Amino acid sequence: MTVRVVLLGPPGVGKGTQGRRLASEHGWGLISTGEVLREAVARRTPLGIEAQRLMDAGQLVGDDVMIGLVRERSSQSEAAAGFVLDGFPRTVPQADALDVMLGERGQTLDAAVSLAAPKDELVRRMSARRECPVCKRAYNLFSAAPRDGRHCDDHPAAELCQRADDVPETVMRRLEIYERQTAPLLEYYRSRGRLHEVAGLGTMDAVYGALIRALGV
Ligand code: AP5
Ligand code: MG
Repeated sequence: MTVRVVLLGPPGVGKGTQGRRLASEHGWGLISTGEVLREAVARRTPLGIEAQRLMDAGQLVGDDVMIGLVRERSSQSEAAAGFVLDGFPRTVPQADALDVMLGERGQTLDAAVSLAAPKDELVRRMSARRECPVCKRAYNLFSAAPRDGRHCDDHPAAELCQRADDVPETVMRRLEIYERQTAPLLEYYRSRGRLHEVAGLGTMDAVYGALIRALGV
């Protein structure tokens, strides 16, 4: 089944965690715009140099840049059997552009899934998040610790890192920006009959179960 799905929700809610599993279990491509940007920052490409300042301040990168990036990734062969978009769209112009680009290819977006959790839980999750520098898998010191407490289970030489934008002031800023610029997308998809709302609280397995039931996959 070819499915194209968008994961919506505030910072720290579990879009990356669930998106990674959903894509890998179904053979779909995973397009995580935050991950693409962090990789560009690490490589110091022109995109990365431009994006770093905005990301460190918790601000969004410009719509044109993000739309171009998703246009390219979503047309690659890894996305041919379907894809999960994690972190895009984040503004109404990005959502409009996604519909246009899929329409040009004779494709449609099958569903927008929103994950939700209370703000204090989001802050707690981000403060304890650690990431593998090699495979980018997210761990959590409380809820998903690596086996030895410090290194990636799959890359034992890789010491887990904290994301630059997971410092407290930037976390608060990202939550504000989400409310202002991205939360309106819930109504955008609801009014088009494409929104599926899933609780982001509970164990990762429970959230995943609810997600696949909502999608019917
Ligand atoms: P992005 O990387 O997309 O960050 P985000 O939206 O702020 O979301 P996060 O990655 O912080 O959270 P998540 O929902 O993926 O949670 P995770 O699964 O890791 O964007 C970063 C920046 O890039 C933006 O601020 C912006 O500057 C820029 N950007 C990206 N896309 C853009 C766009 N389209 N337009 C403009 N700018 C863009 O989980 C969080 C933690 O909780 C982990 O530690 C995890 O292990 C744990 N956890 C997960 N699920 C559970 C659970 N059920 N119970 C307990 N713990 C859990
Ligand atoms: Mg993420």
